[in-house]
Amino acid sequence: MEIRLDNVVKTFDTFRAVHGVSLTVQSGELIALLGPSGSGKTTILRMVAGLEYADGGHIYFGDQDATDIPVRDRGVGFVFQHYALFPHMTVGENIGFGMSVSKVKRSKAEIVARVNQLLKLVRLEGLGDRFPAQISGGQRQRVALARALSVDPKVLLLDEPFGALDANVRHDLRRWLREIHDELGITTIFVTHDQEEALDLADRVVILKDGKIVQQGTPQEVCRDPKNAFVLKFLGDANRLTGEVRDRQAHVAGVAVAAAEGVADGPAEIYARPRDLDWSAAGPGVPASVARVLDRPGERRVIATASTGEPLEFDVDAERDIFAGEQGFVTLRRAKVFALG
Ligand SMILES: Nc1ncnc2c1ncn2[C@@H]1O[C@H](COP(=O)(O)OP(=O)(O)OP(=O)(O)O)[C@@H](O)[C@H]1O
Ligand SMILES: [Mg+2]
Repeated sequence: MEIRLDNVVKTFDTFRAVHGVSLTVQSGELIALLGPSGSGKTTILRMVAGLEYADGGHIYFGDQDATDIPVRDRGVGFVFQHYALFPHMTVGENIGFGMSVSKVKRSKAEIVARVNQLLKLVRLEGLGDRFPAQISGGQRQRVALARALSVDPKVLLLDEPFGALDANVRHDLRRWLREIHDELGITTIFVTHDQEEALDLADRVVILKDGKIVQQGTPQEVCRDPKNAFVLKFLGDANRLTGEVRDRQAHVAGVAVAAAEGVADGPAEIYARPRDLDWSAAGPGVPASVARVLDRPGERRVIATASTGEPLEFDVDAERDIFAGEQGFVTLRRAKVFALG
């Protein structure tokens, strides 16, 4: 089912939370709505679900205006950030609940068979008789997904479903969700403020700020070509460098580092990822001293202080010897340049 938002607006009292968002989610696509807290992600999801009304614009399910479709007929499965399982029902009863109250009448045996099938899909076979308090947080979110899938939704809406879980569990569930999505092919909107989660999971990432879409594209498109400094910084660590544009090239510490097409000569915003910087004993580069070295598997994150006082962070290979207190130069492999403003 294709979902299309056309200039959708939402205002709470006098506060405009969503400012004319237009977005098409193709049938079977998994898109991530990514943005900081308060950027309107949940509000957009709730409008698609019909839990909130848009005060402007239109939402279409296929060719049909969703305004004309009652919430329970939208065929939407919803998973919330906070576990919303019924604590007094077993896992199996939680999963079966939607079917037992659905307009589509199913026999008890049919519901049991479907619950077992869903338990298998979310890899929780054998846990159907436990209560939510007797399973882990990650397992609870898998139950929530099974419950959302129980009524064969045409659209799956996931609002930070893994937000409360620890990093390892999140990582595993992300891969798992993508597999389930690919198996079922359900049109899915996944809300997160975690850029890595969005980039890992989604076919397309939609970046929101203050209730507006700033950029949308495949993970590769938004990573390679962030439209502005907000997107660049939101997608990952970045150093802001002091420099200027001359003759369509960005110059930092006396070295030309990047083409700056379309950016006027003069001061500009110049950014480099930690992997775009390196360290050398001799210049040219930004004179700096190493403040700290943080070891990680496969690489070392170096926190240096430029002679101008600005902090610079870069990554080097795990084998590289580099010490706190060392003096040298931060060199640049590449940078991204934006016009000021
Ligand atoms: N019922 C409401 N009444 C008034 N303001 C609201 C209401 N719901 C949301 N807002 C405001 O609308 C804005 C967008 O909220 P929303 O919950 O959509 O953000 P979000 O992107 O989901 O943030 P988070 O990442 O923190 O969940 C926020 O400024 C919020 O305070
Ligand atoms: Mg939210």
